[in-house]
Amino acid sequence: MNTLEQMIDRGHERVCFHVDQATGLRAIIAIHSTVLGNALGGTRRWHYATEADALYDVLRLSEGMTYKAACAGLTMGGAKSVILLPSHGQAGTEAEARAMGRFVDTFNGAYIAAEDVGVNTQFVDWMAAETRHVMGGETVSTGGDPSPFTARGVFNGMKACLAHLGRPLDFAGVTVAIQGVGSVGHHLATMLEDVGASIVAADISERNLDRLRETVPGAQIVAPETILTTPCDILAPCALGGVIDGNLAARLRCAILCGAANNILVDPDEDAVLLRNAGVLYAPDFVVNAGGLIELAGLHLGMTRAELDAKNDEIEATTREILARGDANTSTHAAAVALAKRRIADAAKEKVHAG
Ligand code: NAI
Repeated sequence: MNTLEQMIDRGHERVCFHVDQATGLRAIIAIHSTVLGNALGGTRRWHYATEADALYDVLRLSEGMTYKAACAGLTMGGAKSVILLPSHGQAGTEAEARAMGRFVDTFNGAYIAAEDVGVNTQFVDWMAAETRHVMGGETVSTGGDPSPFTARGVFNGMKACLAHLGRPLDFAGVTVAIQGVGSVGHHLATMLEDVGASIVAADISERNLDRLRETVPGAQIVAPETILTTPCDILAPCALGGVIDGNLAARLRCAILCGAANNILVDPDEDAVLLRNAGVLYAPDFVVNAGGLIELAGLHLGMTRAELDAKNDEIEATTREILARGDANTSTHAAAVALAKRRIADAAKEKVHAG
């Protein structure tokens, strides 16, 4: 499919390629939908094998942001941007970030950039030197690191899963296996330990494992190769996306799959059905990992601290609703996408009436 066909297929509004000749920045901003409002989505810095891979990633991620914002009940659309790095692991520079900031600024606020893989608060603040349409920095822009709020949202999602299975919500005697104890996974482990859960964790970073050993001494550390199939009540992938495919879905030894990683399932339409058949309750990732988006988008929209916390805690009720609807749908993933699409369609109808 060519670019326009892919946009039509996924329902995108606008995709823009950019080269900054002075710095060599190559970037794409994809706006999937602004029906619910302007669109906030992270900037990912990544070395893609081909330009087609970068386009696929930004189209897929921006579509996901639309559903994430809609399920979170935010008046926000969905968008994302990618910076195409010439090689792996290249550190971000101020010149690169400022060039990206100027690109973001050309959207006049329809797109609001934030952190994603390869982009930290410093990079965000560098972008913010060129545009006010950025969230998640600490000095020039506001919001800071959203990961504690993402962890809180995943925790709320876990409570909804336990409730759906008719289990007590106190986490006592509940074992949670966490893949990846980076920013979100570490906060999540701390929250879960505080309420009495048993933690099993794996990471490929010794530094992050050492941090976990210090803050959550009771955590059991296992090898990265075994974490996904470790026996547990809740499996929480908090590292990378695409970790569970049809084959693995049948081998999981958890009752609940609820984690922060974006796009946990390789093929969500098919794999979510396989999970259901395997007796695993799947909390759709874009529903339970919306806490960071709620924080940054909510601040952007002018919400108070109390409103932001209440919105994050709404993830529990929304997840419960989706899990309940999953019983009548083909899967919980299908139920979540349907909820998002319904909210967007209702907003589009209202716009037509208002116009
Ligand atoms: P991070 O980079 O801080 O942490 C990821 C951790 O996973 C690192 O410690 C890394 O060493 C580990 N890891 C990588 N490959 C692994 C493997 N094969 N086995 C075990 N551990 C492995 O990232 P962060 O911010 O904690 O995000 C985690 C996930 O949640 C990502 O998929 C991200 O896209 C998603 N997410 C994050 C949000 C946020 O607010 N930071 C918001 C929504 C989604």
